[in-house]
Amino acid sequence: MARHAHKETIVVRKDLDFGLDSDDIPRYWMAGDAYRTRVFDAIQATFPDGERYFISAVRAFRDRIQDPELLQAVKDFTMQEGQHGQVHTRYNERLRRQGIDVEAFVKHTRAMCDGRLQRLSPEYNVALTAALEHFTAMMADLFFAEKAVLEGADPRVRAMFAWHAIEEMEHKSVAYDVMQQIAGVGYFTRVLAMTHATASFSLYSVVAPWFMLAMDGYTVRERVSLYGRGLGWLLGPRKGVMRRLLPMIASYYRPGFHPEDLPTVHNYGAWVAAYAESGDPLAAADAMHAAAA
Ligand SMILES: [Fe+2]
Ligand SMILES: [Fe+2]
Repeated sequence: MARHAHKETIVVRKDLDFGLDSDDIPRYWMAGDAYRTRVFDAIQATFPDGERYFISAVRAFRDRIQDPELLQAVKDFTMQEGQHGQVHTRYNERLRRQGIDVEAFVKHTRAMCDGRLQRLSPEYNVALTAALEHFTAMMADLFFAEKAVLEGADPRVRAMFAWHAIEEMEHKSVAYDVMQQIAGVGYFTRVLAMTHATASFSLYSVVAPWFMLAMDGYTVRERVSLYGRGLGWLLGPRKGVMRRLLPMIASYYRPGFHPEDLPTVHNYGAWVAAYAESGDPLAAADAMHAAAA
């Protein structure tokens, strides 16, 4: 496959209004389903600090970048992640108003990210960032390629995730290029970091909603039953959201892999066109959803 076969333009978009402060967004915005809602909510709670970590890991190599195109990409990547951090911080406020101790999740993420920056080499941190960025780009695909995943979601929350997904796909190769071209990270460290990222992401995605549902007031017995039903939705072999994840993770282990080898989700263009026409991230997300398989 030709290198850079699936490259999108990184567009920095600012001050998008999703209407996230509205009081009428349901507590369980994901079609009334507590488990599904809290899977998304718990993952997104890590974004502000996680993305600050990505920015630090990439910027550690900025002074060594000579290529103007890569320098610009790093700048745009930083701006996009900065915007994501702001919006997800506001979303976390919503969770706090619901009585969720969101600080517990934020503190956990911050301690983990600070610990990595202090203890691990800059090369390993940028490799971990590249791996986690592959994850966010894969999520973008898993959540938006098929209609069924976000069917019945509140349009405002869905619009926030759609915008984030779009921009993750646009900058999916920036950390990877810095890791490879500037940090000189080789195959072994790259796949070690991917193994690390996969373990840590999977563990968090299963464990964190458990605690968030406890904060919602669900007893252990009720949570076991929510998980019993919810894990099929997440991991089921035929219709589970994550079933297409393994081949996408596996591709990262291929020597010579580049993030732009993987196609951008087919309805990316529907979002971009609708946003260009309306300037409204809700209309863009609706168009993307309508164009999903
Ligand atoms: Fe992001
Ligand atoms: Fe990102």
